[in-house]
Amino acid sequence: MKKKYGLLLAMLVALFMLVVPMSTQHAQAATDDSLEKIQKKGVLVMGTSPDYPPYEFQATVNGKSAVVGMDVQIGKKVAKDLGVKLKIKSMSFDSLLVALQTGKVDMIISGMNPTPARRKNVDFTHTYYQGGYDIVINKTDAGKYKNKDSFAGGTLGAQTGTTQYNASKSQTKKTAVKGMTSQSDLILALQSHKLDGVAMEKPSAEAYVSNNKQLVAIPSDFNMSASATSSAIAFRKGSTSLVNKVNVTVDQIKKDNLVKKDYLPTAGKYLKTNTVNTSMGHYWKAFLTGIEYTLIITVCSVFFGFIIGIILALARMAKGGVLKTALRWLATAYVEFIRGTPMMVQVMFVYFGLGLFVNLPALTSGIIAISLNSGAYVAEYIRGGINSVDDGQTEAARSLGMSNGKTMRYVVLPQALKNIWPSLGNEFITLIKDSSIVSIIGVTELIYQSNIVRSDTYRGVAPIVVIMVLYFILTFTASRILNYFERKMQHD
Ligand code: ARG
Repeated sequence: MKKKYGLLLAMLVALFMLVVPMSTQHAQAATDDSLEKIQKKGVLVMGTSPDYPPYEFQATVNGKSAVVGMDVQIGKKVAKDLGVKLKIKSMSFDSLLVALQTGKVDMIISGMNPTPARRKNVDFTHTYYQGGYDIVINKTDAGKYKNKDSFAGGTLGAQTGTTQYNASKSQTKKTAVKGMTSQSDLILALQSHKLDGVAMEKPSAEAYVSNNKQLVAIPSDFNMSASATSSAIAFRKGSTSLVNKVNVTVDQIKKDNLVKKDYLPTAGKYLKTNTVNTSMGHYWKAFLTGIEYTLIITVCSVFFGFIIGIILALARMAKGGVLKTALRWLATAYVEFIRGTPMMVQVMFVYFGLGLFVNLPALTSGIIAISLNSGAYVAEYIRGGINSVDDGQTEAARSLGMSNGKTMRYVVLPQALKNIWPSLGNEFITLIKDSSIVSIIGVTELIYQSNIVRSDTYRGVAPIVVIMVLYFILTFTASRILNYFERKMQHD
């Protein structure tokens, strides 16, 4: 028993020693070839959190959901001036900095304020827009709240990882501050009176208010420095050549007053047309894509998870010599470790952590993480299945002259499989539901799509009901199919 924990600990330590130095190394590139690299690559990947009109938000453009807003136009101009193509990657605001540092995106344009704390980890361009902070409240409360100080005894909401969140925490008294990852969820929480106010940039507050007659904006009166209320573009630390070049574009945008003259009015137009059709049927394509990705992830993960499971189960049952004992320990440690950590953390580890060594796309990362996770559980089922096959079977096969391997392959495993079929089926159904976790790294499966529809339509509950029904149809159909095969197997 003791030895087992020692091994586990050693593995953990080794893991950290591997990851930590690599990540710091990554942060400080020795020579600055940032500009060259982008120009060679030909694409500039912009990370953004499209829940912040007029900066960035989802809108239906030519029948398709797209990210629009003033930050997108700034991104386009930056890319154009660099002579490269712009690619937009959406994610939650609090994932943006990690994504930049781990190379998932090349820059962040997301209404981000260049605060001193952030400057320690990333480089910023000159600021392109000065916003200031407001608090959005329900119109019915209009007389009740005046500014940040009126919320004593109440609850203020703010997006996690933002300056508004920090300010709400540090500059209010006796006020509960609730953080949520998505700005649109905060607004929904406000409308259902779970929150009394939501702090955000003034232009964004105005956009939400103009879109929704039940809301009004009040000044926040937060005490903020100028840099904490204006927005800039973030690049990886040490990208001096790239930042200098982009600064020329930013200065030009400011000199020509492009944000006020062009970008903001354009964003306003999208905001108006955006709320025209908010019926769920209108979004059937988004939901269909969601189903497609959910099924891709589930089927692939069950397949690879099964293979990993067989290997692990056999390793866990290996007996004899030093090598086999080590193998057994390793497999046991793996199973214990995977089952002892949340799948959500594993997904983030594969995407961001392994991403330091190989740049895996989100879908691949998701499939890898879920397969590795599922493998640990399946291994236990298989082990139980193998144990459930009577020893007499093995003895008989061996006495007929079959080798160990052949006995396993032709006699034991097929019977074990039959016994554990119901558990494997359960695993499949569980994965249909649990694969939803990969939405956090931006895989466009069902949950992700429903979030897009929610921020597109400003409707909170309808998309949730839709995906609930869709998930049920998926799992119910799957369990019918699995039952059919189970019955068939029993007849054989
Ligand atoms: N300006 C705030 C900050 O830098 C919040 C920005 C939120 N942006 C967004 N796209 N949701 O922390």
